[in-house]
Amino acid sequence: MTHKIAILASGTGTNATAIMDYAALNSNFVSVVGMISNKKDAPVLQRAEERKVPFAHIPHKYQDRQIDQLNAWGAEWVCLAGYMRIVTSEFLRNFRDDDRGYSRVLNIHPSLLPEFPGMEAYEQAFVAGVQESGVTVHLVDEQLDHGPIILQKSFNREENDNLASFQDRGRKIENQLYVDALIGVLNKSIEPRQQKVL
Ligand code: GRF
Repeated sequence: MTHKIAILASGTGTNATAIMDYAALNSNFVSVVGMISNKKDAPVLQRAEERKVPFAHIPHKYQDRQIDQLNAWGAEWVCLAGYMRIVTSEFLRNFRDDDRGYSRVLNIHPSLLPEFPGMEAYEQAFVAGVQESGVTVHLVDEQLDHGPIILQKSFNREENDNLASFQDRGRKIENQLYVDALIGVLNKSIEPRQQKVL
């Protein structure tokens, strides 16, 4: 059975690209049926076009139109991939999985949640002086950067790190972790958990 997923993204799109490229090679398992960006000129839209993935620019304030478009594409799951806005309860209800008891909406966040939710998470962790940080892929609920955790992966802060090198180390983890989490949640080999996984 092919799982139909859509992507919401606002920016560069390395995570969205990793998901699209995985799907292109595994089309009997997962299909990216479309991408929405709230930003008209987001580079991620170009990444979709190059891969012949249908895409649309729909501003965040028209979330009802976003839902309509996702439903028209037949999306069963949504991956937020650098989507810099909070989705509404109505959005989550549209993708609610009653059997599993949670939404079929995933997000990637660059910290070991529940630590450092919100914007600039790499910077927050770096400034706080943590010795270890990481990346989290989780299911989305009504709270900011919150919901059952699918996968987390940590990395260390090195002695000579500046913010850029610290962030680079995390970013190298993100793309593969998102694909691994998506696979795990789709084939049910990973059971999302309410608490920190690491
Ligand atoms: C990533 O750091 C992701 O964790 C965060 O936003 C950034 C998006 O990067 N939510 P990209 O657009 O996927 O390259």
